[in-house]
Amino acid sequence: TEAAPAPRAYGNLKDSDRIFTNLYGFHDWTLKGAMKRGDWYKTKEILLKGHEWILEEMKASGLRGRGGAGFPTGLKWSFMNKPSDGRPKYLVVNADEGEPGTCKDREIMRSDPHKLVEGCLVAGRAMGASAAYIYIRGEFYNEASNLQTAINEAYAAGLIGKNSCGSGYDFDVYIHRGAGAYICGEETALIESIEGKQGKPRLKPPFPADVGLFGCPTTVSNVETVAVAPTILRRGGAWFASFGRPRNQGTKLFCISGHVNQPCTVEEEMSIPLRELIEKHCGGVRGGWDNLLGIIPGGSSVPVLPKHICDDVLMDFDALKDAQSGLGTAAVIVMDKSTDIVAAIARLSSFYKHESCGQCTPCREGTTWLKNMMDRFQQGNAKNVEIDMIYELSKQIEGHTICALGDAAAWPVQGLIRHFRPAIEEKITAFHAQQAASQ
Ligand code: NAI
Ligand code: SF4
Repeated sequence: TEAAPAPRAYGNLKDSDRIFTNLYGFHDWTLKGAMKRGDWYKTKEILLKGHEWILEEMKASGLRGRGGAGFPTGLKWSFMNKPSDGRPKYLVVNADEGEPGTCKDREIMRSDPHKLVEGCLVAGRAMGASAAYIYIRGEFYNEASNLQTAINEAYAAGLIGKNSCGSGYDFDVYIHRGAGAYICGEETALIESIEGKQGKPRLKPPFPADVGLFGCPTTVSNVETVAVAPTILRRGGAWFASFGRPRNQGTKLFCISGHVNQPCTVEEEMSIPLRELIEKHCGGVRGGWDNLLGIIPGGSSVPVLPKHICDDVLMDFDALKDAQSGLGTAAVIVMDKSTDIVAAIARLSSFYKHESCGQCTPCREGTTWLKNMMDRFQQGNAKNVEIDMIYELSKQIEGHTICALGDAAAWPVQGLIRHFRPAIEEKITAFHAQQAASQ
């Protein structure tokens, strides 16, 4: 009998297969430089192939949303493909990158803004949208400035606006700057904010594709998702789908921070092993792999994983879900053995309490309880029985709120208890021993 073929190794992306060719800002990011690097090449032909063709290629690419949730992009964009009763349709780009540890969309807007502007045009064409609103995080002043320059250049060159690229299709692009609320990254809060209201999430359904910005059909897509679209359409959906594992295809921007020798943002093949990602691009964990305590693999909203799981887990949606965590925004936060893991998660609980919009009770009250209990755990001023209580509390928040912020607050605490329970117990024991000694 023939031996089974060796499993394919993921994570050997060639430079020629990288989409973001100016991630580190070494080249000219303006229109002239962008065109030299292949942006805006034959965009008119893509537009003239029509929305059905664009949607089919996007579906064939297997691209899943890069904002964190991983919803299939081609399918999401196709929800706009129905009668709108005379209402205009909009593309909204979520550039409110606020997830702790995440700094990938920032790099795109800073150093490769034309990829996003061209992406808006082809995505807008796929949806029959008349305009794109890019909602950019308020703190991203320089990024908004570069992006506005790119938009102005594209208008001046006839690439967007009336008769975009000479295709007969009219399309406008606007920037809307946020004001610093994390919750405005949630798609319906973001829509409320553009409309001039407080950024508070709406109940879904209706999804934005039915009732979105100004009551019109809208699709909200992340910066990276939109910015990879032109290259996918030029090189073909099958090309993009050839990277990574089935259901987890394509190239992906990973942001690696924390206790590594060289923190960075890098484009790699989806499904690259986590350890390889860190050793190949970040010079390894500070003090060596054996000095690793744990890693949050997808931004602060997903559970932390201990070293033994990090040893061989793949960086993709399914592998990390099976590991009871998530790919999220692919922001990899590395913590070595010097980390006080209870303090680290307590800090996140404090963040979610602060950012809760207060609209629903399980989140408003629950995040306050999580923060208060985690603060006491950090000091050790608690009882062991409270560890099960906080877990139960987190379960009462998870899945019982209007938006995903409730889940995001619950999951880091659950990960801590699942994998690092002894660290909490040690603090409690030490605190009570100290109390007893001082009496
Ligand atoms: P979600 O799963 O509710 O939705 C994902 C997308 O699919 C949305 O655009 C939604 O409208 C669409 N969708 C889902 N089901 C649909 C249906 N039946 N019909 C039509 N459209 C449908 O997730 P959500 O709340 O958009 O995102 C949560 C994620 O965001 C978290 O996993 C977290 O990792 C990430 N996140 C990212 C941040 C960042 O800075 N990039 C900040 C905070 C969280
Ligand atoms: Fe607001 Fe939290 Fe409810 Fe989301 S889950 S709507 S942030 S209170």
